[in-house]
Amino acid sequence: MRICCIGAGYVGGPTMTVIARKCPDIRVDVVDINAERIAAWNSDSLPVFEPGLEEIVRLCRGKNLFFSTDVDAAIDAADIVFISVNTPTKTYGYGAGSASDLRFVESCARKIAEVSRSGKIVVEKSTLPVRTADVIRQILSSTGMEFQVLSNPEFLAEGTAVRDLESPDRVLIGGDEDTEEGRSAIDELAGIYARWVPEDRIIKTNLWSSELSKLTANAFLAQRISSINSISALCEATGADVEQVARAVGSDTRIGSKFLNSSVGYGGSCFQKDLLNLIYLCEHFNLPEVALYWRGVVEINAYQKRRFAEGVIDSLYRNICGKRLAIFGFAFKEDTNDTRESPAIDICRLFLNERAQLAVFDPKVSKKQILADLNVEEGDPRVEFCASPYEAAEKAHAIVLLTQWKEFKNLDYKKIKSAMATPAWIFDGRNCLDHRLLGELGFLLRGIGKGNLS
Ligand code: UDX
Ligand code: ADP
Repeated sequence: MRICCIGAGYVGGPTMTVIARKCPDIRVDVVDINAERIAAWNSDSLPVFEPGLEEIVRLCRGKNLFFSTDVDAAIDAADIVFISVNTPTKTYGYGAGSASDLRFVESCARKIAEVSRSGKIVVEKSTLPVRTADVIRQILSSTGMEFQVLSNPEFLAEGTAVRDLESPDRVLIGGDEDTEEGRSAIDELAGIYARWVPEDRIIKTNLWSSELSKLTANAFLAQRISSINSISALCEATGADVEQVARAVGSDTRIGSKFLNSSVGYGGSCFQKDLLNLIYLCEHFNLPEVALYWRGVVEINAYQKRRFAEGVIDSLYRNICGKRLAIFGFAFKEDTNDTRESPAIDICRLFLNERAQLAVFDPKVSKKQILADLNVEEGDPRVEFCASPYEAAEKAHAIVLLTQWKEFKNLDYKKIKSAMATPAWIFDGRNCLDHRLLGELGFLLRGIGKGNLS
């Protein structure tokens, strides 16, 4: 059997690597139109940082896992084609700012129709608005060959992708349950996962349920973060501690303890995009009340980023003009080099508007990426890219921690304090540092939702 995956990004790359590892008899071709990205997948420095990924790529690459720009040949040779391309929020025309931009998906479907000389199973891996499979089907039907379209959304989280792929909570496969051909396509894909995923974790549904479940899962996860973040504001106004509240609330098994860490706001390529997509769909189907309900989740996230940045500015005597701020972490979460929708972007832009000097350190995000995200040129004195947290903190008025990288917990804060301006502030946007210890060292501290009565 041969599998082809169109799109060698954060989803396609790790997913196909794990499939190749688990199924040595299947040849897996990952193709992309971005030659630079493919070259990186074929080099020692992978384009995606993901713990544990490099080792598996090394084991499989050149054996049954291949990265290439020869899209046409790989599609034609495959029995199953995964579509794993980006579906960003539309920035133009109808639905701009909320609908998903499906032009990359459509062009994949057209490509499959154009180059295939036999019918195949086509799998939607990218997160798509419900009923996209219809579009793909229509395009493929023009060939007169037998294609089956399946939806198999990816639930991996960045930073834990390998673990999530190796032991997923569930695998979801949606297909045409009403026909023999549809059911057998679902079973064929399920058979691949069944090599390492227990059968009871493989959920089979119709196409629309599968497409909608992915959006719904991300909306529910984002909602938990916005819920606890909204309460963090109330904690600060009342003297309650959001971590204590989260622990007390999360101990109710009906609620559960995960995903209740209050933060500077959620980021990443999925939550914002998928919520906006869900809101757009609700509006499209004339359900304005439902759209408004989910809109609140998005608004709380924007509010939390603003609220945090304003807290920093307030604490520094409402003046950060010319002050050096050490930015600890720029990725949207730990263990990834991805900065898409990272809260650091909006927060740093707010600081730049106030004319602060930023000294940014992130262990995995490149200088080029940070400058592009902040829309500043190389050499611009307002943004310095630092090689270590110590360098960033040198002469800084404040440390602003935005990503919970583990290494920030065990730095020599005594040394850092002595190199900083006085008073030395730490704004812990992830509540991940030892506040008692830092207080003893003489830092002024502000966490999220921690009784900062103002
Ligand atoms: C998410 C979903 O978890 C995954 O199932 C889906 O397939 C894609 O979207 P990802 O965006 O990679 O994955 O990361 P996730 O771990 O969900 O974190 C998203 C954001 O929420 C990050 O910015 C993270 O720091 C933040 N977060 C997460 C919190 O602020 N608090 C929490 O308790 C958990
Ligand atoms: P994700 O996080 O969903 O994986 P990425 O942006 O990291 O998103 O990856 C998507 C990849 O899909 C990109 O590398 C992009 O070049 C690729 N891509 C987009 N359109 C096409 C296409 N028509 N053919 C091949 N690759 C494509």
